[in-house]
Amino acid sequence: MKNLLEIYARKKRDIAAIERVLEESVYSDHSLLREASVHLLKAGGKRIRPVFVLLSGEFGTYRLDTMQNVAVPLELIHMATLVHDDVIDDADTRRGQLTVRAKWDNRIAMYTGDYIFAKALGVVTRIPNPAVHQIMSKAIVEMCIGEMEQIRFFFETEQTIRDYLLRIKRKTALLIAISCQLGAMASGAPDRVSNRLYAFGYNVGMAFQIRDDILDLTGTEKQIGKPPGSDIKQGNITLPVLLALRQPELKDKLLAELARIHELDGQTDVSRFLGYIRGSDAIRQADALSQAYIDKAIAALETLPDMQAKKDLVEVAHFIGNRSY
Ligand code: IPE
Ligand code: IPE
Ligand code: MG
Ligand code: MG
Repeated sequence: MKNLLEIYARKKRDIAAIERVLEESVYSDHSLLREASVHLLKAGGKRIRPVFVLLSGEFGTYRLDTMQNVAVPLELIHMATLVHDDVIDDADTRRGQLTVRAKWDNRIAMYTGDYIFAKALGVVTRIPNPAVHQIMSKAIVEMCIGEMEQIRFFFETEQTIRDYLLRIKRKTALLIAISCQLGAMASGAPDRVSNRLYAFGYNVGMAFQIRDDILDLTGTEKQIGKPPGSDIKQGNITLPVLLALRQPELKDKLLAELARIHELDGQTDVSRFLGYIRGSDAIRQADALSQAYIDKAIAALETLPDMQAKKDLVEVAHFIGNRSY
């Protein structure tokens, strides 16, 4: 299996160009807004959404300037939600660096997120197609609903796997789905193609968040750029936890730990809880579901023309299914 750098190699120049536009686009005469935005930008990140735009754009007439005007706003929207997400989660590290809220404070993080978001709007208006704007607007609304639902379900041990899946669809999968769809649309690819790519992105996006949730329970701080166990400290009950709660020999122990963590508002050591989950079969089961989404994603590409971009999308999907960062 290829790593991300190998997969990105063919698009290296175009990704570098996007990097430059990203930097230009968060430029501000206000030094604090600039510094806080550039801080997150320079911390890195996988740039998976821009890459999906670029690869999907190859199914139509590929023009780098058009692709940039879709890829940059999508990465900016993603970044804005991360800055806000870290406020909600009280997170101190992201991408191995201090979060904006930890380096400055929550108020500054709120405006930095809004600022980055506004810049995304500025760039996307360069695409003279209101359908593109509408699709982005709808996806952002869904993300807000997903994040609100996540709060509503904090420490809710009675929630179903369906509740979980609907939430991650909204908060993560749809943005990845539209990255693929809009890349194709902006390149003038036929609807049939952009719809297939949307289905691919949706399924990859589901697997992406399931992997993220597994890594939060099993990863090391070095791998994931933040301390493991962050989700449960905050009350976010993810797929492996829901699966472990179904195991009769674990259920009572897990419920007791969860009640204790809730009582202490997450200000406690969660290593025992993580130990239960890691020692159960739940991680393997969650992984299997993530793999099933990857298989579905790849199947969605079946009827598309056999081009290098299609092979690369398959490679990215495999990377996501196995990612450890
Ligand atoms: C993190 O997204 C938030 C989720 C949707 C899981 P990424 O894992 O794409 O974050 P970066 O951009 O690579 O840091
Ligand atoms: C991603 O969710 C946030 C959004 C999709 C807005 P997470 O809370 O799982 O992301 P990380 O784990 O903090 O990166
Ligand atoms: Mg978070
Ligand atoms: Mg997470």
